[in-house]
Amino acid sequence: MRKKLLLGNWKMNKTPSEAKAFALAANEMVDFAVAHDIEVGVAPTFVCLATVKENINPKCIVAAQNVNEHDHGAFTGEISIPMLKEIGISWVILGHSERREYNGETSEKCNEKIKALLAAGMTPVYCCGESLETYESGQTKKFVAEQIRTGLAGLTPEEAGKVVIAYEPIWAIGTGKSATKETAEDTIGFIRRTLRENFGPVAMDIRILYGGSVKPNNVAEYMSQEDIDGALVGGASLEPNSFQGLIDGMLAK
Ligand code: 13P
Repeated sequence: MRKKLLLGNWKMNKTPSEAKAFALAANEMVDFAVAHDIEVGVAPTFVCLATVKENINPKCIVAAQNVNEHDHGAFTGEISIPMLKEIGISWVILGHSERREYNGETSEKCNEKIKALLAAGMTPVYCCGESLETYESGQTKKFVAEQIRTGLAGLTPEEAGKVVIAYEPIWAIGTGKSATKETAEDTIGFIRRTLRENFGPVAMDIRILYGGSVKPNNVAEYMSQEDIDGALVGGASLEPNSFQGLIDGMLAK
């Protein structure tokens, strides 16, 4: 049985004091979600991670939005796994389309980071998803399968079972133009079959999230789909009321 998961990706939003205010406001809703078998988490910027971790309900996952694959060294501007571990962070989002577009993150690089995270006993949330052009030319599945195969290359089935996948069509991110539940399920079901071909039965235990303009009023539609196990949410995860709305919507499945 795959546990439902709601993850808020705050992207480059909130100062530390704003992040702390959210953390304090979220305590009860985290308890509520956990009591209803929904795992919840937020991914603040690096500079807010420690503050959020210290102030939020300990049952809430706190994830980083990126990490470097090296433990230390001459990598100006980067953050390492041991640094995250020391402040209690054990989840990391990788390969978000914004990082792929603006920071040159590739599936090959994500593969190195995923391996480093798994070796450190941490949980990667590996993002995939196609552009509008790829979608309109009917190449979505080919494109996403390649991202999955490359990002997870060389993992054992046991390791693959520890990764969370997020499918986020780029044309649906921040546009208000969400994928229909049928479109999302079609691609996510395909991702699960791709995982099965590569890693065997463990694919049935891997959580796959949908992301892209998920809101309190449409999250239930996605959760009603067989292969969709949760949501990776940007804009609608930023305010406590809206976050609570997402949790309420997820109860529908
Ligand atoms: P929005 O929910 O704002 O569309 O963002 C989705 C996303 O990119 C989450 O990682």
